[in-house]
Amino acid sequence: MESVTKKHLQVKAPGRINLLGEHLDYNHGIVLPAAIDKYITFDFYRSEDPAICIEALDVNERWEFQLSTLKDLKTSTWKNYVKGVFLLMGIDQLAPALKIGLHIKFSSTIPIGAGLSSSAALCCGLAFGLNEFFGLGKSKMDLALIAQQTEHQFAGVKCGLMDQVASLFGKEQQLLAFNCVTQELQHFSFPLKGAKLFLLDSRVKHNLAESAYNKRRAQLEAAFEQAQQLFPTLSNWSALSTEMRAQLLPILDTETAARLSYVLDEMQRVNEVQKLCHHLDLDIHNDDNDHIEQALKNIGSLLSQTHTGLKDLYEVSCAELDFLQSNLIKLPGIFGARMMGGGFGGCLLVLATENFDTTQDLAELTAQYFQKFDIHTLCYSIQLADGVHLTTHD
Ligand code: GLA
Repeated sequence: MESVTKKHLQVKAPGRINLLGEHLDYNHGIVLPAAIDKYITFDFYRSEDPAICIEALDVNERWEFQLSTLKDLKTSTWKNYVKGVFLLMGIDQLAPALKIGLHIKFSSTIPIGAGLSSSAALCCGLAFGLNEFFGLGKSKMDLALIAQQTEHQFAGVKCGLMDQVASLFGKEQQLLAFNCVTQELQHFSFPLKGAKLFLLDSRVKHNLAESAYNKRRAQLEAAFEQAQQLFPTLSNWSALSTEMRAQLLPILDTETAARLSYVLDEMQRVNEVQKLCHHLDLDIHNDDNDHIEQALKNIGSLLSQTHTGLKDLYEVSCAELDFLQSNLIKLPGIFGARMMGGGFGGCLLVLATENFDTTQDLAELTAQYFQKFDIHTLCYSIQLADGVHLTTHD
């Protein structure tokens, strides 16, 4: 266990975006996320005192605990995630035997509540660091599953696996195609010539987000059982043919039918956008500017269609996001935009021309937004970045 002799490790864990495939990770689809250059940075220090001290520098909070009592401690906010990761990694069994303690400090540049998966970054970064520190030899996929279970068991959110996979497996300038049925994972380049992605943060997060999320998941799971009664060999939603869809939708209640229609439409958009990205790559290679522009328009239009589906069929948007999105896509230089992540607030993902000026060109819209909702938006420029990694150790 050579790595236990390490005195200090630094780990960076990124947030994520998702190009398309929203709410498909727990609905048997393919999702297209990427890690971004916004991080939680953790410093792990070995200590002789066999206790754990963890400091959340941004909120100026410090938590000290004994591993032997961790299981029974009542926690809230970020401490839920820490507790979950420590217990699910089995650190409470391991560390006391080794007679070593840990002092961890972390701070973040991922905006909280903006739908950029800061909680996944927290769990993945912590799990990755503990794995390195104690030389546990777990694979990145093991860590992703532990981070997901932490959300399920310690935060009560029955999330899919997209955020954790993006945070752990991201690669600079690349998107991931993650097949949530087979867990197959492919990186592909997302070259943007003459265009850029940015995030427009509505700065709202409505309270019902978690319960509404779990409700949608349960609704679709129940619908899948109904589908299997009709089609006993159906193994997942992506295997549902057009004919089967036509048979199934009328027997579902209207709300569930709308939710399922969104899922099936989104699966098609994911297929289309994957082809478009592939062509875009070739067009850039061949310097074919007309085709590049057309591909960008098509990708933008898919983003906007996804927003409409999330708003009208899956019903996870909100007035603030809809106001921003519907006005944004009328502006010159915008190819398309959509709400991103679980919903009920957070950011819009926007595809725009490279020279779109996010201060000047958005000034009027953000002023109108302020007038209507009394909230100032924020804009983040983003680069697709590497997943969780070690930056230093000694
Ligand atoms: C949240 C969840 C993810 C995923 C998205 C919606 O971010 O954590 O698992 O379901 O919402 O695509």
